[in-house]
Amino acid sequence: MHCVQVRSYAKINWSLRITGKRPDGFHDLETVFQTISLHDDLTFTPADRTTLTCDDPTIPTDDTNLVLRAARAVNAAPVAIELRKRIPAGGGLGGGSSNAAATLMALGNGDLRDIALHLGSDVPFFLLGGTAYATGRGEVLTPLPPMTGIPLLLVLPEEGVLTKDAFARITRYSPPLGLAAYRDFANFTNDFEEPVFATLPRLRELKERLLENGAFYASMSGSGSTLFGAFVNAESRDAAAAGFTDVRFEKAETI
Ligand code: C5P
Repeated sequence: MHCVQVRSYAKINWSLRITGKRPDGFHDLETVFQTISLHDDLTFTPADRTTLTCDDPTIPTDDTNLVLRAARAVNAAPVAIELRKRIPAGGGLGGGSSNAAATLMALGNGDLRDIALHLGSDVPFFLLGGTAYATGRGEVLTPLPPMTGIPLLLVLPEEGVLTKDAFARITRYSPPLGLAAYRDFANFTNDFEEPVFATLPRLRELKERLLENGAFYASMSGSGSTLFGAFVNAESRDAAAAGFTDVRFEKAETI
């Protein structure tokens, strides 16, 4: 094997309903995933043993990192893995899950879906990418017509949300709407918003500011804390960005 370089793209959830609690402790979801242009870079170079290095010192590079767990899960020949991180950790953008899927695809072969789900609920989606409707834990996937090129503004608050804690705050479940309902943005929602906004009210203000600044749709992604706004064109997205001098943001687009 030669040196292999791959991009590992982030996702947003256009919509996310939590439809029930399962006997295995996980929750059933109904969500619409969307790959976006924001990405990390992964490089795999043959080596004597498998190692991981990362340019972001806050990311653990030990065996808890999903990249190493993915490499071990496919029994790959030893590789030195370099991770260049741009997707913020703990933001609901699926960075760790995307890195895991990219590693499975670079080093593994055959049907990787079961290994992917074992690594995390969002990992199977990243094997597919694009726009997809998902149920179960997020692994029962149906591709949807592509929604490429939609300009996004990602607002990245300092406040982090732990996915496990966000699920623990869910007390009511939403009935699933069915795939056909997601042709209409009016049906999009995120069931994590209410419980997360209740403890972090600034996130609600940031979402409202995206709408006031011209987004045709705004939502939290996953369990947060990232808020995203979707815009009709790049000019209106860029104009809206000027209203966010007090918080980190990234420009991106759907792919
Ligand atoms: O699958 P993943 O490791 O990303 O999940 C992290 C935690 O989030 C799980 O341990 C579980 O508490 C919660 N979770 C859940 N239902 C899902 C996905 C995650 O309850 N569908």
